[in-house]
Amino acid sequence: MKNIFEAPFVREMERTTANMYRLGWDERNGGNISYMLDEALVGKYLDFNTVLRRIPTGFDAKELAGKIFIVTGTGKYFKNVDDDPETNLGIIRISENGLDAELLWGYKDGGRFTSELPSHLMSHIARLKADPKNRIIMHCHPDYTLAMTQVHEMEEKAVTRTLWGQMTESIVVFPDGVGVLPWMVCGTNEIGRATAEKMKDFRLVIWTLHGIYGAGRSMDEVFGLIETVEKAAKQYMLTLPYDKKQCISDEELVALAEQFGLTYRKDFLDLPQA
Ligand code: 13P
Ligand code: ZN
Repeated sequence: MKNIFEAPFVREMERTTANMYRLGWDERNGGNISYMLDEALVGKYLDFNTVLRRIPTGFDAKELAGKIFIVTGTGKYFKNVDDDPETNLGIIRISENGLDAELLWGYKDGGRFTSELPSHLMSHIARLKADPKNRIIMHCHPDYTLAMTQVHEMEEKAVTRTLWGQMTESIVVFPDGVGVLPWMVCGTNEIGRATAEKMKDFRLVIWTLHGIYGAGRSMDEVFGLIETVEKAAKQYMLTLPYDKKQCISDEELVALAEQFGLTYRKDFLDLPQA
């Protein structure tokens, strides 16, 4: 067996959580990541016959039976993952009946996966239907995105249009826009179902007064999505007290979309009907 501490997926989780912490996206235990792993690759590092513990998922995740994920632990701090991955991360396999997570590695202090597992697994199910290559669900609490949810109308066309209008790269990076949920109690199956419903159409979902969810094929894709939303929200919040002289118009957004060959949410713009 190869050394699990040198596995590329463990190193990726360490690097990503450290970056997110340094950007201020994950105070204390804020944020969580789940990353669906390739079984053949994990098999080089772990013996699949050794199940350390079985932890109930709290809902029916049968659609993911047999799938393996590396997941951040509940109550664990992103700033500590790099120093002690075996305590702060876990590798789980969803049981055949979908009701348990079989712990294959990690959560060394008796801990368990993030309290947001329902939102993660339900979002994986939704995104895999939209894009079979989706692998990652990421949640965090970036400052300006969060601040924006206090002062902006929380409706997805309005939020997306504002973010697209702040800076040129926005529509290029997330032409599919941003889904929005009202404030809800977190860590529940209910917010999981609501998030997954949005994930049918969006790779990004903002939770009002809480944070953001991103989905994608790679860490770079998901990180880049959240980073770009946060940058646009920062422009919005930094300029909010001033008399704004310009933002990118709907016609200019169309010109950008045409230049970059984007498939984008045309219904999020107010254009004269052709
Ligand atoms: P966990 O510590 O359970 O991952 O929760 C953090 C969080 O961000 C809740 O939304
Ligand atoms: Zn959170």
